[in-house]
Amino acid sequence: MPDIALIAPYDNLAAVACEVSRTVRKPVRVERALLGEAPALARRLKREGVQVLISRGGTALVLQDAKDVGLPVVEIRVTAYDVVRAVAKARLFGRRIAIVGFENMVLGASTLSESMDVEIKEIVLERARDADTTVREALRDGVDVLIGGVITVRTAEKHGARAVLIESGPEAVRQAIDEASRVLWVKKHETARAEQFKLIIDNVSDGIIAVDDAGHITVFNEAAQRLTGRAAADVVGRHVDEVLPEAGFAAILAAASSGRDWRRESSSNPSSQPASPEVCRINGTLVNVTRVPIVVSGSCAGAIATFQDVSRLQALEKDLRKRLYARGHVARFTFGDIVGTSRAIQAAITKARRFAAVDSTILILGETGTGKELFAQSIHNASARRDGPFVAVNCAALPESLLESELFGYVEGAFTGAKREGKQGLFELAHHGTIFLDEIAGMPLRLQARLLRVLQEKEVMRLGDDRTIPIDVRVIAASNKDLRKLVAEGLFQADLYYRLDVLKLALPPLRERPEDIPLLAETFARTLSAKLGTPFQGFTSDALAVLLAHPWHGNVRELKNTVEKCLVLSESGCVTNNDVLDAIGDTPGSEGWPRITEIDGDTSSAAGTLASPRDSGTGRDLESLIKAVERESIARAVSACGGNKSEAARRLGINRTTLWRKLRSEHTAARRDAQREGGREP
Ligand SMILES: Nc1ncnc2c1ncn2[C@@H]1O[C@H](COP(=O)(O)OP(=O)(O)OP(=O)(O)O)[C@@H](O)[C@H]1O
Ligand SMILES: [Mg+2]
Repeated sequence: MPDIALIAPYDNLAAVACEVSRTVRKPVRVERALLGEAPALARRLKREGVQVLISRGGTALVLQDAKDVGLPVVEIRVTAYDVVRAVAKARLFGRRIAIVGFENMVLGASTLSESMDVEIKEIVLERARDADTTVREALRDGVDVLIGGVITVRTAEKHGARAVLIESGPEAVRQAIDEASRVLWVKKHETARAEQFKLIIDNVSDGIIAVDDAGHITVFNEAAQRLTGRAAADVVGRHVDEVLPEAGFAAILAAASSGRDWRRESSSNPSSQPASPEVCRINGTLVNVTRVPIVVSGSCAGAIATFQDVSRLQALEKDLRKRLYARGHVARFTFGDIVGTSRAIQAAITKARRFAAVDSTILILGETGTGKELFAQSIHNASARRDGPFVAVNCAALPESLLESELFGYVEGAFTGAKREGKQGLFELAHHGTIFLDEIAGMPLRLQARLLRVLQEKEVMRLGDDRTIPIDVRVIAASNKDLRKLVAEGLFQADLYYRLDVLKLALPPLRERPEDIPLLAETFARTLSAKLGTPFQGFTSDALAVLLAHPWHGNVRELKNTVEKCLVLSESGCVTNNDVLDAIGDTPGSEGWPRITEIDGDTSSAAGTLASPRDSGTGRDLESLIKAVERESIARAVSACGGNKSEAARRLGINRTTLWRKLRSEHTAARRDAQREGGREP
């Protein structure tokens, strides 16, 4: 189906049109209709995909006037050639010629009079139905022949007068087809642009509504449809006040068209910032509205309002914060990552889970490496704030002024070296999340006072600023020092201490829960061997015994580092006691062997202070030491499992037969010791 159709008011024109279309190789659909018949035909052609119409004379005018057709109409203009041809024909019937027709056909024709040796009278038709009277008047005036369009000719013939049709020649038709092709190109181009515009408008997440100067809706994008629950098809063309009075267009249109300052009218609060967005409720949703007038050369041509769903904005902000700080400000660990079956660690986990369910400040105390950060992250991830940021700050790692600007942020020009645009502090970054204040004891006293204010007021003031910023942050503080003692010594603010000490979580040192050591060592070894690509077959029981006997002043972290070294040192993948001793030997911070009393309050199992196992000069030899430690761990495991030896073996990370063997030899040794002791009795 061609995009162009030519509606010919007379047959010959249809024939010429077909011919021209063929010769210029432009497809044109040619149809016949005159005046009042044309609009119905045009509507049908439009439905069939025609985009541009061509017609002539009165029929072209009728089509242009028919609003419901809505297609551009290109007119075949009557050329001088056409008139000359008609005059030449008419001359055969007489010299007095009247040219009757619509303005577009007749004007200027009289100029031919002289050159063609005739007398030409121009008679302009206003309306088709005037044709009859006009023709009769012309005949009364005594013309010999009439020339004109189809109506003129038909009317003249009806009155028995002579008439010649001004026919459009191929050059006029060709011009019209060329023009129609240009119109078609522009139209397609415009349609493509309009499509693009609609695509853009419909794909923005903000609702967009535009109205013309009279307040009729011209644009109503998809987001606006979602927001209002109304279909664009139902509202476009209608007055905005009738559809959506709450959009607040009335004031801005009135102000803009009266030349007043529209910005003031757009806000209910006259002193507010110009064009600042307002929050209002549309269809039950809280939205942020921004309205602007469309001002074209000083006068108001309409207005545009954009709407943003406030809850979506908040979600976006949250998501943005999360992504912005994804690197440093998320908590990786959950309670599932905490390894340990000891009663002490299980009690800590239970308590921490309870803390996660509430929003109060938490203070985590524990020696270095006991898992304070691990617990803080797990609490955050189990809390309602899990989708918010987790911001960790080491309060002892930064110099006072830097820590202050990091925590609280600053405004432009707050101090020399400050970034021009100012900087958000970590408290602001942690908004809707958790801030983990690690090594809180290391915070200088002056900052402690500032921190206390933030905790009390729940707002921060950036350095150099006089405004406060409200913050919603949960605080988890941690310390490996005895804060109470620091308070007594005046090194920690008492008020802050009581502020922080709302929910207290004390993490047990590893030496107080040696039963966790085998499982921790095993877990670390498996994950590390996968990571390092080194084989791991297990720890020998001697190796475990050494691990159990070590005091682990660096707690779990030290154990983890030691296990990593063991894996590297071990040749076969089976970690032996020598591997462990080598690893411990060069683990910084390992201070040799413990007093056995630290492993267990029961001193009967071993004696006094022990020197390094390699220092054979002091104390017992290594073997008996390991035996003692082993004996202790076994006894403890067996009693912890209520005498269930298989379970005890599992906990110890050794197999059942080994456990049996060890228990038997222990029994024999104990009897021998008892006998020896007995022999010394006086
Ligand atoms: N129970 C546990 N299960 C598994 N891994 C643990 C456990 N406790 C600690 N860890 C690991 O030990 C290392 C030290 O833990 P973390 O950093 O939480 O200790 P910390 O108490 O914050 O230490 P510091 O006081 O030195 O900062 C981390 O790699 C952590 O994952
Ligand atoms: Mg830590």
